[in-house]
Amino acid sequence: MDIKYLGHSAFEFNINGKKILIDPFLFCVPEYKIEHINDIFVTHAHGDHLGNAIEISQKTGAPITAIFELANYCAKKGAIATDIGLGAWQDYSWGRAIAVPAFHSSSTPDGVYGGCPCGFVFEIDGQTIYHAGDTCLNSEMKMIGEVYRPDIVMLPIGGKYTMDIEHAVTAAEWLGASEVIPMHYNTFDAISINIEEFERQIREIGKMPRILKIGE
Ligand code: NI
Ligand code: MN
Repeated sequence: MDIKYLGHSAFEFNINGKKILIDPFLFCVPEYKIEHINDIFVTHAHGDHLGNAIEISQKTGAPITAIFELANYCAKKGAIATDIGLGAWQDYSWGRAIAVPAFHSSSTPDGVYGGCPCGFVFEIDGQTIYHAGDTCLNSEMKMIGEVYRPDIVMLPIGGKYTMDIEHAVTAAEWLGASEVIPMHYNTFDAISINIEEFERQIREIGKMPRILKIGE
């Protein structure tokens, strides 16, 4: 499986030719070609996560997987949507996914309640990947580490609205993953951080920081 960073909290997974998008806010990659998408996952309703999901679903026919209220909102706006609740695996043609708690808020850009925010754990080709969405450090991460044993984790590190570097390092320890991909930083001023500091601190706890360039 290939993981491509699309900036902010957006990722594309390419699983033997099947493509899924997570939090497809494509602001950082205006040249990104929207085609052949199998599934879209959205962690919560904020504009920098819902992003271009509705138009991508309309264009490609890919369903959006999101928490019940957000899935309903997307369906009302003309997208194809699959709702998911916290706590049960859902099967897909490329693997399976489960929604896990995130501590944040969730309303759409036009002010509609988006249900609870979440993160996702994916099991794909024998690998477990955790995308935290927007969240503070929280003790659920100990549970996620113990129950799902992620190999790769994507953690927000920009502070202000989410964890900062210090808390993301603690989260990485609790999650037990060997590789840590930072996200949700340096997109705008309020979340600007020194990425070398993140890299240093993650190495210090014996883990591999995977700092992906946008489009890499
Ligand atoms: Ni948010
Ligand atoms: Mn955000």
